[in-house]
Amino acid sequence: MKRKKIRIGLLGVGNVGCGVLEILENNQALIAERTGKFLVVTHAVVRNLEKARSLVSSDVVLTTDAMSVLQNPEVDVIVEVMGGEYPAFDYICEALRQGKPVVTANKEVLSKHKATFFALAKENRTDIYFEATVCGGIPLIRTMKVGFAANRINAFYGILNGTTNFILTKLEEPGSSFDAVVKEAQALGFAEADPSMDLSGLDSAYKLTILGAVAFKANVQLDDVYYEGITALESSDVAYAKELGYTIKLLGIGREVRPGKMTFKVHPTLIPEDHPLAHVRDEFNAVFIVGNAVGESMLSGRGAGGAPTGSAVVSDLMDIAFDEHPLGNKRNLESLGADIAIVPFSDTVSQFYLRLHAVDTHGALARISSVLAEHQIGISKIMQKDIVDNEAEIVLVTHLAVESTMAAAIAMLESEPAVGGISAKIRVGLDEV
Ligand code: HSE
Repeated sequence: MKRKKIRIGLLGVGNVGCGVLEILENNQALIAERTGKFLVVTHAVVRNLEKARSLVSSDVVLTTDAMSVLQNPEVDVIVEVMGGEYPAFDYICEALRQGKPVVTANKEVLSKHKATFFALAKENRTDIYFEATVCGGIPLIRTMKVGFAANRINAFYGILNGTTNFILTKLEEPGSSFDAVVKEAQALGFAEADPSMDLSGLDSAYKLTILGAVAFKANVQLDDVYYEGITALESSDVAYAKELGYTIKLLGIGREVRPGKMTFKVHPTLIPEDHPLAHVRDEFNAVFIVGNAVGESMLSGRGAGGAPTGSAVVSDLMDIAFDEHPLGNKRNLESLGADIAIVPFSDTVSQFYLRLHAVDTHGALARISSVLAEHQIGISKIMQKDIVDNEAEIVLVTHLAVESTMAAAIAMLESEPAVGGISAKIRVGLDEV
């Protein structure tokens, strides 16, 4: 029996594009065996022809003209791994208009334009696949859509960014410097070209909107997400958190607070050391999911880098190969009709870790606890560290408090003569109410 060939137009031959080419070549026989099809990159669109020539085989047509590939009837599927919003948005739209299935690894463009893409795909009886946009090689999107299809997902808590997890892990080593560790993550190929996207929490926020759409079938936008990165953290916070029995992780949280009421937020979080998320180290990602039938599950794996992300892209290509009629199945998001309300971040609840400087006089500690008490905020743990320049460093963990109440307490503490300054405020734990 003659096997059918699926002809792929590859947009971008960077880190992920090379990962895709390598997997298609190394696992060619296995892929053909499993799908009954040959998956072949026939065209690649690049910015620099000379630079790309050594990266792709001589059978591949290399061009800088994307439209000639998108509109070519001899290209069956488009893989977009160029990143960024434009021109990726225009290219994906054109491919869908041409009725070609699209596989993308581009979280930014998908996060911003998912509703347009899903509608366009439906209109043109095709589909868009995006396993690679969130958590690289972890089969997360498909697991949420298919594996957990019988569940109502109540919440998910994700370490969605490899670079920041790598940095936070390295900061646990005494003497490590933030800047040196960022450079290491860049050299290893995890960090974005502009690492501020990782450090600010924006990368996680894009991924959170995509997971929110998958888990809750809602058109979650970046404006619905509160996000805060790791730039304000100091290595002393990592060390004090350890002393208190926690590990700091940058978490992306999507949660149904009350029926139909959602919250989406990204911020550093102190995770109790006995929680599985606390053990996810280096550039690894993980998502802890709570479903109303399955209960708690965690998926973990490599979330960044050419090969893990390439693995997700090729798995989507194989999904297309398995099913030549994408609209014949309902696995992908064909609509985002769920009507949800966003709970303002200021109304959400968590415990807090505070590191503050108390003036070294009698009654300073009492004043701090009474300001918190005036706001009905209890203290769960407290420790006093070194006295430097007549100021004592106090580290404490509160009981549950509402964000806006904590902000008011912080404002009052900052105006207290007994308080020299507040150096850190980090949320603690996963168990909100
Ligand atoms: N810069 C991203 C990360 C790459 O570190 O997770 C994968 O999206």
